Order: sequence, then C-alpha cells, then structure tokens
Amino acid sequence: MGEASLTTLHLLATDPSAVAQAAELARDGHLVAVPTETVYGLAADARQPDAVKKIFAAKGRPADHPLIVHLADKSLVTEWVETLPDYFDALADTFWPGPLTIVAKKQAHVSDVVTGGHPTVGIRVPNHPAMLALLQHINSGLAAPSANPYKKISPTTAEQVLFGLSGKIAAVLDGGPCEVGLESTIVDISSATPRILRAGPITKAALEAVLNIEVDEPDVHTVAVPGNVKAHYQPSKPLTLLSTEELVARLSGQCEANTGVLYYSSQIERMISENSANNELVDLKLGADKAKYAHGLYHGLHQLDQSSATEILLEAPPTAPEWRDVNDRLMRAAAQ
Ligand code: TXA
Ligand code: MG
Repeated sequence: MGEASLTTLHLLATDPSAVAQAAELARDGHLVAVPTETVYGLAADARQPDAVKKIFAAKGRPADHPLIVHLADKSLVTEWVETLPDYFDALADTFWPGPLTIVAKKQAHVSDVVTGGHPTVGIRVPNHPAMLALLQHINSGLAAPSANPYKKISPTTAEQVLFGLSGKIAAVLDGGPCEVGLESTIVDISSATPRILRAGPITKAALEAVLNIEVDEPDVHTVAVPGNVKAHYQPSKPLTLLSTEELVARLSGQCEANTGVLYYSSQIERMISENSANNELVDLKLGADKAKYAHGLYHGLHQLDQSSATEILLEAPPTAPEWRDVNDRLMRAAAQ
C-alpha cells in the first residue's frame, strides 16, 4: 500500500537541485518527507486527493484524522480558508513562519481527504528554509502529518524518518535535526475566542500577550483533535515517568542490566557517574532548559528505543506552564 516497495531517495536539503527534485516528486503525486522546525512531515500535494490518500496508507493512520496544510506564506491562507477573525493578522504576523497551526473554516475546494471530513482545515507556515523553498517550487500547499508510523514517536532527523517509513515513500529531504523538536501549537480560530487544541511551543501566555484577549485551553483535550488520543507518540519499549526522587530511589537499588534512563538533572547525572553498581545502564542526558529538553526529547526516546535497553525510565520534567507541551506528549507516550 502507499507507495509499495520503493527505493526511498535520500535528498540533501542544502542542494537546490535536490529541493527541485523533491518538488517534482510531490507535483507528480508522490510522498516526500520534509524537514520543518518542529518535526519532519510526510508531505503530499494538498490539491491532489489521490496523493494525500497515500499518506494515510504509508502511516497506517485512520482516515478521519485531519492533516495540516503547509503554505509558503500568510498571503496564501485565503485560498484555503473561508473566514478569518480580526485577530488572525496579529497571530500570523507574530508567529509565522513558526510552530503555530491555525484551524479555520475551509474553502469548498479543500478535499475531505485532507480534512478527514471536517468542515475546518489546519494551516501552518513552517520555519525551515528548505521547506519554504520547496513550497515556493510546488506553488501549492503541502498536506503533512508528522512522518512517523501511526502512534509512534515523531521523527526529528531524516534517519529516524527512514527507520519508520523507508520503502513506503518516494524520498526524504534531509534538512538536518529539527530545531524545536516538538509538534506545533494548534489553535482553533473559527470563533471569537481562540482555543488551543494541542499544546505546543507557543504557549497560552504567549498567545494572550499578542492578542490581548483570553485564549481557551481546555484541560482535557477533546476529540476535536483526533490526534489527541490517549496512547500516542509511543516508543516500543515500556516507558515509565518518575519524579526525580522516585528515580533516585530506583537508581539507589540494584537496577537490571540494560535499564534505559533518560534524565536532565545534575543530581541524576552525578548518581549515574558515581554508582558503579549501575554500570549496565543505558543512559542519556537531555538539556535542563525547556527549549533544549524539547529539542532532544524525541531523539533521545528514539535512541533508547533502538538501544539494548529493555525498558525506559524517564525523569519527569518540571510542570510549569512553559512545559505543558512536553508533559502532554510524555503523558501519551507513557500511557498503557
Ligand atoms: O509541527 C507540526 O504540527 C507537525 C509538522 C510536520 O508541521 N505536524 C503534525 O501533524 O504534528 P500531525 O498530523 O501529526 O498532527 C496534527 C494534528 C492532528 O492531531 C490533527 O487531528 C490536528 O492536527 N488537526 C489537523 N487539522 C485539523 C482540523 N481541521 N481540526 C482539528 N484538528 C486538526
Ligand atoms: Mg503526529
């Protein structure tokens, strides 16, 4: 299914002719994995429903999960969206190109394959030079979910894309590691009060500071975003979230060989380097500030998943509002 048994091309985003080749593949109705600043996307021309269908087949994604349409710039939004609220300009001018997706009433021509049958469409102008160059080339929108098999961890490198989808897609455009490392904030702007449907790098406070109006952020994210299912973003190995204290207690005892540990605090780092009884740990340190932590999280989870570790213990990050997106993803990653 999808693009059955293909040799997936590995194209380098620094080469303009490779970007042109990726554009040609997309124009011909093929799937191309693309770099963005958040995570890699699995792209097809949003104006070709048959091409977009291949995305669902390659990922094993349910057909009613809508896709985000990526555009080269703000001026193109009205080609895809019917009505925009007054506050749209402030949002787009401040946060685009960047990790913000808006959801608004779609134009009639936008295919149900893209929107999962919903009357709205998600739109984002991503902040990655090669992706923006690609969008200029194809002169259309690129429908793209994260480039991972359904429910698996989103890829932040081309290698990770190939690990999950090699042979199922025509090409991956390798733009290096994604800078942000976590998916965009999704905001429904189809009513007077904007509403966050998925927490992301742009927080409620950041949105409110720009808009000067209240932004809704429901506690339990609803089925309005079908991707917000309880178990998602999952490694294949059992993942347990532990507070720093709980992890200290676990590491003080005898750990089994090949226990994976993903941590960020200097307290855990010290314990691991001092405790020779635990020298069979497969450990990996994440940055301690939010941006660095988010940047390394999916890559770290993926690495431990591919390592000899039999389970993954993760030092739970702080719960301050700034960390909401990280905690949201981790809750789903660790869900049984
Ligand atoms: O950072 C990102 O957003 C990345 C990069 C590739 O742009 N994309 C991404 O796509 O995370 P995906 O498909 O993995 O997650 C997009 C989420 C899904 O949960 C989907 O349900 C929601 O966006 N979404 C898309 N269109 C929507 C709509 N019209 N209404 C409600 N939710 C929508
Ligand atoms: Mg996804």
